[in-house]
Amino acid sequence: MRNIYKSKILIVDDSQDNLDLIRDMLEDEGYEYITCVLSAKEAYEKLKKDDIDLVILDIMMPDIDGIEACKYMRSHELYKDIPIIIATAKTDLETLRNGFEAGANDYIRKPIVNDIELMSRVKNTLKFKISMDSYKELSKNLDKRVKEELEKNRHKEQLLMQQSKMASMGEMIGNIAHQWRQPLNALAILVQKINLLYNRGELDDKVIEKTTQKSLMLIDKMSETIDDFMGFFRHDKVKSPFDVKDVIKEVLSLLDASLEHNGIRCDFIINSDNTIIEGYKGEFSQVLLNIISNAKDILREKKLSSSKIEIKLSSDDKVVTIEIKDNGGGVPEEIIDRIFEPYFTTKEEGKGTGIGLYMSKIIIEKNMGGKLSIKNDNEGAIFKIELKK
Ligand SMILES: Nc1ncnc2c1ncn2[C@@H]1O[C@H](COP(=O)(O)OP(=O)(O)O)[C@@H](O)[C@H]1O
Ligand SMILES: [Mg+2]
Repeated sequence: MRNIYKSKILIVDDSQDNLDLIRDMLEDEGYEYITCVLSAKEAYEKLKKDDIDLVILDIMMPDIDGIEACKYMRSHELYKDIPIIIATAKTDLETLRNGFEAGANDYIRKPIVNDIELMSRVKNTLKFKISMDSYKELSKNLDKRVKEELEKNRHKEQLLMQQSKMASMGEMIGNIAHQWRQPLNALAILVQKINLLYNRGELDDKVIEKTTQKSLMLIDKMSETIDDFMGFFRHDKVKSPFDVKDVIKEVLSLLDASLEHNGIRCDFIINSDNTIIEGYKGEFSQVLLNIISNAKDILREKKLSSSKIEIKLSSDDKVVTIEIKDNGGGVPEEIIDRIFEPYFTTKEEGKGTGIGLYMSKIIIEKNMGGKLSIKNDNEGAIFKIELKK
């Protein structure tokens, strides 16, 4: 805490005698930095140059009087918090009220017959000013610290977003591999067939033409798969309208080979034909991919005779609801509250990162203003996404 005797005090009075009197009293008390001026105008100049802690202001002055000077200081960004003690010969209520209304903090009566009143008011006002200053300083530091923390958090989130992308990228490559297996096989057969027909001397224009076309079609399909998967990682900068139904269909068509390979049946039940919302399509597809991949993981682990995922789409006037349910036995109750935490995973090292659901929650709730929740039923987990129309 600053020493109050080091405060800078400015006394404004049109009488030199008064100035001298007040200054002497304050100096006797131990105040070290006192400036005296004879008019409001001079006071303004002083305020400009110095960081004044307290102004003792005479009310009755020619030109600019104390009330006006008070108002001026209160309307000025730099001076509005400097305490003012008005000194007035009149103690009638009207003058006092005017002074306080103009922004004075306290008053002293003139003539000053003893120094008790002056000293106690100056001391109290300065103490108040000093605590206000340290409070301001504190809140400024706090502000800075809050900003720093926010920045750190933002950075952490970006990092997680990046990691989550990397993780789903890995999953994606697995999915692409499955999706490619069939057209790749078909291409291999076509190539072998050309070889065979050539050896037999049966390779004519027609065969070449047909095989080329077939091959190009397969290659197109394969590159389409890549494009579709890349779409997941597109960073949408602005929200745009899309049909939830179409996005689910797209995601499922990309995953069908991989689901089939794992013996998982997937049903998509559409209970509404109005499922258009505004949001980030790429990010939303990532959420679907995360949730379906989790279901796939648990079903693979459980090795059931009939694994299944069921996606139910419904809506009312305001909300589109997507429920993704599997029959993998559900999330154990002991951990159900933790699965949306970053890095929470029950999978062995290298298989899980624990950021899929955390990121999904951020995307749905923070970025798209919706809700993502989990519950179990007697067969397995049900993830529910609610999005406002
Ligand atoms: N459908 C589900 N059934 C059972 N447990 C699940 C399911 N989905 C997610 N979980 C649990 O939630 C955890 C966190 O999931 P996630 O954030 O996607 O991370 P990761 O898949 O890398 O483990 C999983 O490790 C798993 O224990
Ligand atoms: Mg996951």
